[in-house]
Order: sequence, then structure tokens, then C-alpha cells
Amino acid sequence: MSIGKPLPHDAAPLHVTGEARYTDDIPLPAGALHLAFGQSSCAHGEITAIDLAAVRAAEGVVAVFSAEDWPEMPDCSPSLGDEPLLATGEVHFVGQPVFLVVAESHLAARRAARLGRITYAERPALLTRDQALAANSRFEGGPVIWSRGDAASAIATAPHVVEADFEVGGQEHFYLEGQVAAALPQEGGDMVVYSSTQHPTEIQHKVAHALHLPMSAVRVEVRRMGGGFGGKESQGNHLAIACAMAARATGRPCKMRYDRDDDMVITGKRHDLRVRYRAGFDAQGKILGIEFQHLIRCGWSQDLSLPVADRAMLHADNAYFLGNVRIESHRLRTNTQSNTAYRGFGGPQGVVGIERVVDHIAHTLKLDPVTVRRRNFYAEMAEGGASAAQASGVLPESALAKVKAEGFAAKAEAPGTGHRYGAAHSPKAEVQTTHYGMPVQDFVLRGMLDELERTSDYQARRTEIARWNAGSPILKRGIALTPVKFGISFTLTWLNQAGALVHVYQDGSIRLNHGGTEMGQGLFLKVAQVAASVFGVDVGQVKITATDTAKVPNTSATAASSGSDMNGMATQAACITIRDRLAGFIADRHQADAATVRFEDGQIKVAGESYDFAQVVSWAYQARISLSSTGFYATPKISWDRVKGQGRPFLYFAYGAAVTEVVIDTLTGENRILRTDILHDTGASLNPAIDIGQVEGAYVQGAGWLTTEELVWDGKGRLMTHAPSTYKIPACSDRPPVFNVALWGRVNPEDTVGRSKAVGEPPFMLGISALMALSDAVAACGDGSVYPALDAPATAERVLWAVRRQQGHV
Ligand code: MTE
Ligand code: MOS
Repeated sequence: MSIGKPLPHDAAPLHVTGEARYTDDIPLPAGALHLAFGQSSCAHGEITAIDLAAVRAAEGVVAVFSAEDWPEMPDCSPSLGDEPLLATGEVHFVGQPVFLVVAESHLAARRAARLGRITYAERPALLTRDQALAANSRFEGGPVIWSRGDAASAIATAPHVVEADFEVGGQEHFYLEGQVAAALPQEGGDMVVYSSTQHPTEIQHKVAHALHLPMSAVRVEVRRMGGGFGGKESQGNHLAIACAMAARATGRPCKMRYDRDDDMVITGKRHDLRVRYRAGFDAQGKILGIEFQHLIRCGWSQDLSLPVADRAMLHADNAYFLGNVRIESHRLRTNTQSNTAYRGFGGPQGVVGIERVVDHIAHTLKLDPVTVRRRNFYAEMAEGGASAAQASGVLPESALAKVKAEGFAAKAEAPGTGHRYGAAHSPKAEVQTTHYGMPVQDFVLRGMLDELERTSDYQARRTEIARWNAGSPILKRGIALTPVKFGISFTLTWLNQAGALVHVYQDGSIRLNHGGTEMGQGLFLKVAQVAASVFGVDVGQVKITATDTAKVPNTSATAASSGSDMNGMATQAACITIRDRLAGFIADRHQADAATVRFEDGQIKVAGESYDFAQVVSWAYQARISLSSTGFYATPKISWDRVKGQGRPFLYFAYGAAVTEVVIDTLTGENRILRTDILHDTGASLNPAIDIGQVEGAYVQGAGWLTTEELVWDGKGRLMTHAPSTYKIPACSDRPPVFNVALWGRVNPEDTVGRSKAVGEPPFMLGISALMALSDAVAACGDGSVYPALDAPATAERVLWAVRRQQGHV
């Protein structure tokens, strides 16, 4: 059984030897051309003249295109149709593509692109959220508002109130492999496109649209990405469309790769926002009423901003039951890069808001923030419910039978000793619902917090840190424990579908294809493990292949962490179809019941006999049995009305919790993470090695977002931080020196593949514990009367200012 095994990433040896082929490594046919965009230097204005004579005359240039060459300008937007490939008359941000250079080499194209002379009639640019708000520049008519109960009166009558503005910065994806695409013209006008994309079907759709071709005439292939993190859901469209248009115009293969600076200047990032909050609470820290206002900077075009902002609202509760709540979300349109998907897809922005509120409440009441967190947690289900059964390590009988029938052993580990789980913790027995009406039936954070508190020695360390701080005037340490609850499924319900195509060849080897894409997260290996488990063969017998729109059509982006959930299920279905045919065939030969045929250890066992898998396959082939099948999966149970903000948008929640300890230098604001302990819920993990890698990477990326990664624009709207020299992502040396990651091994009560849970995005939000630990350290610099109110990213400067405030200097 290869499911559940901690196997190394299938491409790890290729990655470390440099043999792994990325889009840029694919050899192009002779005569291939290279592309670069000429970009706008103006944040908002009308183009009054374009002089491209010097560009055309530059060495190696084959063609140059601008709006006048393509009266019907292709659109690159994944949503509204508001992103022309090249600016048509107006420009909306610094970096916007205005013209396209086609040249003999990458360097020649880039050099020539600098020679364009564009004149603008400048218009006032809206760069900040405040400017956009004042000008009422936004997507959707007005703010989106969801509420439950009566937050205003609950706050008015509450014994205590906190209120503040909390600034949270954006984040550059900094995938190691930048955006890249290539288009190869085929006979009859067809096009083959290689693209570093999380969403091959979107590339196919947009290229077909640009070329006025049916989707069937465009084939998109992607073997792997060197990271995507959401930045390759929509941001690759421009390159693929540009390549396809240029390939059509020149009849030659065309490739485009953004240089790192261009990538940072042109593509969208995580949405930065201001969370304005007002919360009323009692003396125990229980939240009685809460109001949030999200001011979200979307950039110049809509892109995926609406669902991103929705997800921020959906996660405004994080792990806490909010009886009286009002959330107001403003999607502001500015003259900056069009912000886009980024790991968590708005969820982190919602979660960091409520975690900040809880931290503020705890500081006000002089309580341990963990106490306040527990007091506000959702209730766990009563004894006998799914969660209690799960917590006691017992799967409901029906679920167990189903898991067994599907050929997977349920991995229901016994809980740790000496700890109470489930109902015993619950103040209430009935199921509580979220502010959008979804019952929280699988809440496991109470048990997880107990365990993490114990394994991380949180309480003792908290006491020890306070003692240490008392004797340390310059350096101060801080510690924080934060939880996460993250909803799994696309909120756009129809995206929750996936397909697979599985071939078994006559020698018993298996070739696997599905709609998911590989970006380093280990999806291909996990899905191969699913296939191998169904057939009872070694995972090495399953050939993993490139994602290809000609093999599996109409796929969704590999996003929302649902890659393995959905493609795993579709693949399992395809494999079961073939396995059932093989079982029927071999059972027939032995006059046995097909249900008794077993597939294990590379053998097929029937009526006391045991045959090699390949032997039976070869007999089945000779008996003219089809050994190929598609598989399909549509996520059940979900429904969502985004206008009302009501429904069950998620199949289930994934949970996690982290304890981070930091130290700050009060003279400089410099800081370090000293130790991190994480307990993360991956259900019955399909591959614990891959999952722990995901948790570690996500945590570090999340901590980077909230600490060192700072995007800075100047007054003209120019991104000043457009290279690693000025934009600081965490390096290997920024990893916590003590980093303990454990998986909470309880099975998913929902019927997912192998009873696993999605892992890609949820642990990103564990990085919030780093920000809260910094807040704790800063709080230790004063007499406890001033809340640190640390904005994010908490760079050394911000930490220093916060320390100075504590010391009464500011
Ligand atoms: N892990 C790596 N190594 N590289 C990535 O680009 N993207 C993240 C996450 N983990 C990413 C990653 C994001 S944003 C998502 S949505 C999921 O992986 C997508 O893959 P999955 O659905 O297979 O988990
Ligand atoms: Mo991930 S932001 O859903 O690609």
C-alpha cells in the first residue's frame, strides 16, 4: 500500500541534479523567436504618441506590435475581460505592457523594449487605498456586507471594547522559476503552448479566444512549475497569449520569459489591506460583538480580486464563534499591479485580522492570549458525533467500511495519553455555524491545542521568558500560539470538479494523467500513490506525466489546496474502473466472485492462486479487455450563494496550530525566530514527508509575509522593491533553528481520498504566530499599558517604532 508512505518527491533527484525540465528548458524548433514587453512608465494616463522606430531598428528585432496593429486586442483577464494584452489608448499602472517586441534572442528583445518612446497625458493616479476610497474607485458597486446578529448593539453594551486600524502588507510570490511560455504553430493553424501555469485550461481558453480558434485546436502542456503559489493561476495568460499572437503573425515558434525585475513589476501580488476592527467583549475575553472593515487594494483590473476578498470575509472568524458580527469589504481599484491569488487566496488576510483582535483583547485583559482563543473557539460536537468518534480514534462503522471497500486502511491513530478530546472540552453540545451559515462539525482545535501546548512546553516557556525578559534590558523574547481553521473547496462551486486518464499497458506498466499541475507541492506523487494503491503495485510502476489539455479537458486551476483531493479522487475512480475489469476477467477464469479478487504486493490473488499483476494484464489484453479509463470527480455536499454570503462553501475544514518564539533587539528592532512548534491536521496523510514539507514551507512563507517581505512603491507608482536586493524573502538561514512539525493523524470525517486533508495553503497562516510573538516581545518593553499595535510586515523598523512607543518615546 503506497498511500500513507513518506516517499520522497518523485522529481527530487531531477531537481537537485538540474535535470528536471522546466518550460524554459524545453528545446525549441529552429527559427524560434523571443519576446519582451515594452512597459508603461506612467501610472495613469492617456497614450498620446508612441514612437517605436528605434525599437524596430534595433539589432535582432523581427517584429514589433502595439495597439494599432491589433485592433481587436486579445484580453488576458480571468474574470471581467478588462485586461487588454497591450494597452489600448490608456495606461493604468507602471509596468503595464504597451508594445510587444519579437526578436532573435531573449536579450535582443529586452534591449529593444527599452528603446520605445511613449508620450502620455498624465492623469491623477490612485495609488493608495485611501486615495481609491476617497475617489470611490472600486470593483462592484459598493462594499460587500455580511452580518449575523447585531454587532453594533452587542458592542455598545459590552463591558470592554477594543478598536484599531491594522495595516497588512502585500506579498510578492517569488516563485523561483519566473513566468514563461512558448507557442509552437502547427499545421492548419493549430497551436501548441507550453506554459508555466497552474491553470492549463485557462491558457487554452484564452489563447483559443485570442486566435479565434475552437479550444480543440489549442493544446497546452505543463510538466512542472518551479513554484506557483497562486501567482500562476492567471498571471501567465499574458505571456502565453503574446507568444500565440506572435507565433500566428510570424509563423515561427515564440517564447517569452520575464526577467525577475519585469516579473515583479508586471505581475500582481497578494492583496494588501487595512483591517479596521471594533470588538466588544466580557471580562473573560469572550467576544460579544465584532465589526470588521476590510479595505483591500485590488490594483488596476479585477483579476481574481472578488473571490479573494470573499475568502478574506469567509475567514474573518478563523477558529472562533462570532455570534454578532458584521464584515464590510471594500474592493478598491488602484493604479498598481493587479493583485491576484496567493497561497490562502485572501484567507490569510481574514485570519490575521481576527488573530490581531484576540491578541489585543488578551493584552487589554492581561490574559494569556491562548486563554482568550480557547474561550472563543467553536464548540466541538457532542459524543457520538463524527468529531468525537474521530477524536477517540474510532471511525464510524459505515465510514470504515467504505474506506476498506476503497482499498485503503483507515489510519485512525489513538490519541495521546492523559489528554481529553472532543466532547469533554465542549461548552455546548450542538453544532455551531459560521457567520455564513456552515455548520462546524469537525472542530478539532481544542484537542490539538492541548497537545501542542504540552509538546511545545508553552506554559513553562512563557513563564521562563517573562523571567528572562525581566533581567534583559536590551534583548526581549516573546512567544505566541495561534491556530488556523481553513475551508477546503473552491468557493465558485462549479470549479470543484476534476478528471483523470489512466492507461495500463500490456506489460503491466501504468501511465497516469490528470488535470492537476505540479508546482513542487508533490501532487503528482500523491496521485501516483493513489493509483498504485488501487492496483496494489509499487508506485514506481506508475509513470507520472505532464498535464495536457488534450488528455484531460476542462480542468480547474490547481488551487484552493484541492489538487490531491480532487485529482486523487478522479484518478482513483479511473483506476477502480480498470481494476474492476481485471477482477471480473480473472474471477471469471476461476469461477470465483469478482469481489474476492485482491490486488496487493504487485500480485492479483484469486481463488487461492496468486499471479503477477503484469501476467493478468497481458491475459486481459489478449482477451480484448479495455485497459484504459477516464475518471471524474465532483466534490459533493457544497453550495454557496456569494451574494447572500450564505451556504456551505467548503466540504470540510483543515486545522493547525503553531507556537513561535522570537527575540528582538530593542536598540535596532532586528529580530529572529528562535523556535517553532507546529501541530497540523492533514487527516490521514497521503504522504507525511510531502505534507511536513508543505507545512514547513508554508509556515516560513507566512512568517515572511508578516515580517521581512515589504513592498514599497514611490509617489509615482513605481515599485521600488523589484529584486531580491530590495525585497527580502526568508532564506534558508531564516528558518527557525528549532523547528518541530508534527501531523495530527486523525482521519478526515469527510469521504476524501484515503481520508486525507488538503495541506497546501492552511499552514501558511501558522506564520501569524511569528507576528504575534513579536507583538508579545514588544509588549515586554513597556509597563503593559500600551498595546504594541504592530502592523505587518513587522520589519525591523516597525518593531523598533513599536518598542519606542512602549518606552514612551513616541
Ligand atoms: N508548494 C510548493 N512547493 N510550490 C507551490 O507553488 N503552491 C501552494 C501550495 N503549495 C505551492 C505549494 C498553493 S497556493 C496551493 S493552492 C497548493 O499548493 C496547490 O496545490 P495542491 O492543491 O495540490 O495542494
Ligand atoms: Mo493557491 S492561492 O489557491 O494557487
